Amino acid sequence: MNQSVITRRTVLYSLGAGATAAAIGATAKSYAQILGANDRLNIAVLGVNGRGQAHLAAVQGNASARVSHICDVDSTVLAKRTAEATTELGYAPQAVNDYRTVLESKDVDAITIALPDHWHTPMAILGLKAGKHVYVEKPSSHNPREGELLVQAQQKYGKLVQVGDQQRSWEPTIKIIQQIHEGLIGQTYLAKCWYVSRRNSMGTGKVAPVPSTLNWELWQGPAPRSEYKDNIHPYNWHWLRRYGTGEALNNGTHELDICRWALQVEYPESVTATGGRYQAKDDWEFYDTLITSFQYPSSTISWEGRSCQGMRIYNRDRGSVIHGTKGTVIIDRRGYEVYDWKGKKTDEFATGRESSSSDLISKDSMTDGHFANWINAIHSKEKLNSPVQIANISVTTLLLSNISWSVNRELRLDSKSAHILGDAEAMRLWGREYEKGWEVRI
Ligand SMILES: NC(=O)c1ccc[n+]([C@@H]2O[C@H](COP(=O)([O-])OP(=O)(O)OC[C@H]3O[C@@H](n4cnc5c(N)ncnc54)[C@H](O)[C@@H]3O)[C@@H](O)[C@H]2O)c1
Repeated sequence: MNQSVITRRTVLYSLGAGATAAAIGATAKSYAQILGANDRLNIAVLGVNGRGQAHLAAVQGNASARVSHICDVDSTVLAKRTAEATTELGYAPQAVNDYRTVLESKDVDAITIALPDHWHTPMAILGLKAGKHVYVEKPSSHNPREGELLVQAQQKYGKLVQVGDQQRSWEPTIKIIQQIHEGLIGQTYLAKCWYVSRRNSMGTGKVAPVPSTLNWELWQGPAPRSEYKDNIHPYNWHWLRRYGTGEALNNGTHELDICRWALQVEYPESVTATGGRYQAKDDWEFYDTLITSFQYPSSTISWEGRSCQGMRIYNRDRGSVIHGTKGTVIIDRRGYEVYDWKGKKTDEFATGRESSSSDLISKDSMTDGHFANWINAIHSKEKLNSPVQIANISVTTLLLSNISWSVNRELRLDSKSAHILGDAEAMRLWGREYEKGWEVRI
């Protein structure tokens, strides 16, 4: 591809929806004057410590929406984000600690969920029952049973559920996947995806008094109760089974979804995962190293995750490689590269930006585009790019990788339902135990 073309597109894609608006003189503040409040969707953003910041930025930058509520059970985080949003928006969203205020409000059209994983499906279902559209972060469920329930709930209550696989809304990825489907690299049969990072140890937590600024009861919600420890909130809950789902779901969800999309496959026939917690001895309950193979009738996908070892693969910290009978495509968050059968590069597109996980807690064009797609779909102007029915297949596939790792053996699957065949011990991990009174019902 011609360099000048790359440069021009780089500028366009890097700008993103919000930045484009700024370039033509519109800001979150001026949207309030451009459109009357009644013309815009009222959106409540739940969980605003890390990822919720990107949710806030995406809603703030969208002319068809307004931030009606900001909700967090940590009152320090809540106060900070509400003050920032008020400055940005020129009006004050309602700040609430308790999500029930949001769900009871007739004025709220939709909710976004950037809470710990154990809350995703329960909150999404509560939102649907309250008549709200939902944007839920990946992984959309904490265990495969919740995935089934969320899909059923969406069908029952009829509101839209978009899952936070934002690359599904990124034009360069949409374009190259379309070309792969049209035969660019022949018949696809092998894909590899990966994520590497250099995470620190989470240490060994001490039981401590719950900070006066944190509602630990609502933080735990559906999870069985346990004492507060000083190394769980924020973020490190990712590595504890009670709340999190490990790196395969934290990051693998994005790229496995790209591979499945490129290969046009749904559930595999078998899943085999091996790995361990090798880099440190601490409270971390998942692996820091995992290699999983997903076997389909005529193709294979593999995932490699290294949470604490940053040596890159294909010079990238994350990405997907798709092989076909005539060539190969590498896809990542900077763009893509196309190679012929001999391994010679024949085309590429690059934004010129490094993909970085820190992008994901601030404004980024991919997330803005994914939110715009969700908001336009609510207004019946577009089809959802990552509806829960599709996203759940990727999420459940990786939850099965966790189960395979837990029981340390290959799982054979019913390729329609993904239920594990002939292994009652593994199938017991299909669901979870809930705190009494917090069971998920649709
Ligand atoms: N799509 C992406 O690229 C992407 C990127 C980063 C994170 N994520 C996902 O976003 C989610 C949040 O991750 P994070 O890193 O921001 O976690 P975090 O721990 O930093 O933030 C979670 C916030 O939720 C709040 N919270 C917990 N329970 C609550 C409740 N019942 N009501 C209101 N607030 C509550 C916490 O107080 C905290 O402020 C995770 O599921 C993660 O996988 C997605």
